Amino acid sequence: MSMLLTIDDLKQQARRRVPKMFFDYADSGSWTESTYRANEEDFGKIKLRQRVLVDMDNRSLASTMIGEAVSMPVALAPTGSTGMQHADGEMLAAQAAEEFGVPFTLSTMSICSIEDVASVTKKPFWFQLYVMRDKDFVLNLIDRAKAAKCSALVLTLDLQILAQRHKDLRNGLSAPPKMTLPNIIDMAIRPGWCLGMLRTKRRTFRNIAGHAKGVGDLSSLISWTHEQFDPRLSWADVEWIRQRWGGKLILKGILDKEDAILAAKTGADAIIVSNHGGRQLDGAPSSISVLEKIVDAVGDQIEVHMDGGIRSGQDVLKALCLGAKGTYIGRPFLYGLGAAGKAGVTQALEIIRKELDMTLALCGKRDIKDASRDMLHR
Ligand SMILES: Cc1cc2nc3c(=O)[nH]c(=O)nc-3n(C[C@H](O)[C@H](O)[C@H](O)COP(=O)(O)O)c2cc1C
Repeated sequence: MSMLLTIDDLKQQARRRVPKMFFDYADSGSWTESTYRANEEDFGKIKLRQRVLVDMDNRSLASTMIGEAVSMPVALAPTGSTGMQHADGEMLAAQAAEEFGVPFTLSTMSICSIEDVASVTKKPFWFQLYVMRDKDFVLNLIDRAKAAKCSALVLTLDLQILAQRHKDLRNGLSAPPKMTLPNIIDMAIRPGWCLGMLRTKRRTFRNIAGHAKGVGDLSSLISWTHEQFDPRLSWADVEWIRQRWGGKLILKGILDKEDAILAAKTGADAIIVSNHGGRQLDGAPSSISVLEKIVDAVGDQIEVHMDGGIRSGQDVLKALCLGAKGTYIGRPFLYGLGAAGKAGVTQALEIIRKELDMTLALCGKRDIKDASRDMLHR
């Protein structure tokens, strides 16, 4: 672990440990993957101002996101099928985040259920909601998140329909995996992953199985999930969801200024500037390239967070300088999880923390809350 020094090191280790089908599921974007690539590349175009001979002692990365104290403003993004990167993945990642003092967001499409994660954590985590056609299921899911004492609901707006990812189709991705000969061979050469999966009972979408009407066996579960994302979701729906939930609400998937203005009027507590990690509209701009414009439009009305393409502490700092109050990492923690389970997630967070701390100092600042645009070369 000591030689896994960057998020890319964790990625290469995960590539060795996780069956190709699930590694590719994480390391993919929709269609040509141009937006997926742009998310990372556009961070590289932003340059930081180096400052010298200022007091760099006693630095602090502590901040808040939607009023919750965080040890650094970096949350774990909701990611589906995380329990296929590593057995019990969501439970392990939630524990790592809790110990690190950053929020963990559980996806609706997780392998471990809300109740599974609640059973192994002490502090509240966040729950991400996909709105399905089956409204009874959605209402019940909101109530389960409340019962588990989740402290924020993250409502995802950018997946009314599911975009196409070629790698998933070519690999025959499903949970549990399709047992084709190439897939069996691919798993057999990764015994650590296989053993973990054999030992756990959590191998399917446990927020859904046994909770949605008519979903008993695995094949009905798979067809249910394919048909269920609600293409008619509208701004009006945000209101009943907010009412039913009654707690902190974060709207995820805003990429356009006009949508940000509408989102700010909903009474939500924060928005996440996001293109779903380049997994939905291929050809959309990177998240970091639209952040500033959105902050200028609504930053005085609603807290603005961002995700997409963060691979280092430098990237986090750039997002904060452009006005984000919080950031999220998706793939970086998935790579950590695939590489080494809970310790790998901790390592991903530790890499980012160290880079963020040193970068802050080399920019001549001591408190992350002082991050501002004048720290960037423009
Ligand atoms: C494998 C994977 C699964 C994802 N599943 C979900 C999901 O279930 N719900 C959701 O709102 N976003 C989902 N996302 C998007 C992430 O929440 C986040 O927006 C994105 O990963 C951020 O980009 P990054 O991976 O470059 O950090 C997923 C992303 C990945 C990589």
